[in-house]
Amino acid sequence: MSIFKQYKMIGLMTGTSMDGLDICVSKIKFFLKSINVKVIKVGYVEFPKKIKLNIENSLSLKKEDIKTCHKSLGEFMAKETHQFIKKNKISNIDGVGMHGQTIEHISGVKSLQIGDPKYLLNKLNVPIISNFRNLDIKNGGTGAPLVPFLDKILFQEEKNAVLCLNIGGISNITFLPSLESNGNIIGFDTGPGMSLIDEASKIFFNKKFDKNGTLSINGKPNLELVENWMKNKFITSSYPKSTGRKEFGLTWLKRQMSVLKKLDKKDILPTLASFTSSSIFYNCKNFTNYDKIKKIIISGGGIYNTAIMSNLKNKFKNILIYRSENFGIDSDSKEALCFALLGAAFLNNTPSNIPSVTGAKKSVVLGEILK
Ligand SMILES: Nc1ncnc2c1ncn2[C@@H]1O[C@H](COP(=O)(O)OP(=O)(O)O)[C@@H](O)[C@H]1O
Ligand SMILES: [Mg+2]
Repeated sequence: MSIFKQYKMIGLMTGTSMDGLDICVSKIKFFLKSINVKVIKVGYVEFPKKIKLNIENSLSLKKEDIKTCHKSLGEFMAKETHQFIKKNKISNIDGVGMHGQTIEHISGVKSLQIGDPKYLLNKLNVPIISNFRNLDIKNGGTGAPLVPFLDKILFQEEKNAVLCLNIGGISNITFLPSLESNGNIIGFDTGPGMSLIDEASKIFFNKKFDKNGTLSINGKPNLELVENWMKNKFITSSYPKSTGRKEFGLTWLKRQMSVLKKLDKKDILPTLASFTSSSIFYNCKNFTNYDKIKKIIISGGGIYNTAIMSNLKNKFKNILIYRSENFGIDSDSKEALCFALLGAAFLNNTPSNIPSVTGAKKSVVLGEILK
């Protein structure tokens, strides 16, 4: 086997659901022509109420609120990561790749993640790599998604095309053409994931989220309404595109309040689950090389919503559907693994954006280091 360099990295991710911190410790090996990723340990810490509130406040983009959240979230990540590696007796870490909490993302213009990395540096005393999106944007890219770089390493196959789908707050896909076809990798956000179901669970059922999708499956979706929502410009436009809770979050839900209130209460979440599933399917069918797809590998919290999973099975007929666990990758921490990989790629001086995905002029080494 050709020479390699290896890094033991921690990846940290806090996604658009604003539910908590995903941690992934992994070993990343760089060979001359390939990269190998091996997960060592994964973990999750739910945000305490105060941190969640700080994040919600910072979305207003007021300077004071951002400052408060940058500090408290940075401290939280440092404390929890330190405890996690102590508890699991993990040593000899080479670095941390931290994504931070996105509070503003304007595709191709700017992307702001907060959570001050200096607290991690103080606690762990290893290089902290963050701000992964900026250099892609500076090179003419959208700055998102970055996960296709990991998907390619984990799941691309010689003969068959594979579709990776992550259902977090927002849903995003990676289309991996077969290696032998030499085609372009495609990746973009398809629209809502769990964000609308989460918001509606709070408003209509006083629940943080719809555990196991019980409320999303015990009712009937109003398909006329879904068809209407599907006219949304973001959903029907082709890539490159990325979105967030600003577009598919509480504001969207409030705009639909009068029509939602006319529905039988038990049909509200099934209708939203149908919207999430339909927007995923529409985008795959129209903007990827759909006929070539042989399997779909799903990750993210959406896999626990039985209504969404069952809708997807019905829509993607004749395509095998798997969870990433089927391939040894914990679906909750796949994105944290991605930032461990991007952190290692930085240390190894390996370019990590995929221009066919983000539209960047060239592939560059992403991230900024604090050491
Ligand atoms: N047991 C579960 N049952 C149903 N939904 C779940 C469950 N666990 C997580 N989820 C959903 O997944 C979301 C979190 O998914 P996640 O992949 O962490 O998203 P993000 O990357 O946006 O943080 C939760 O907000 C919730 O909607
Ligand atoms: Mg999350």
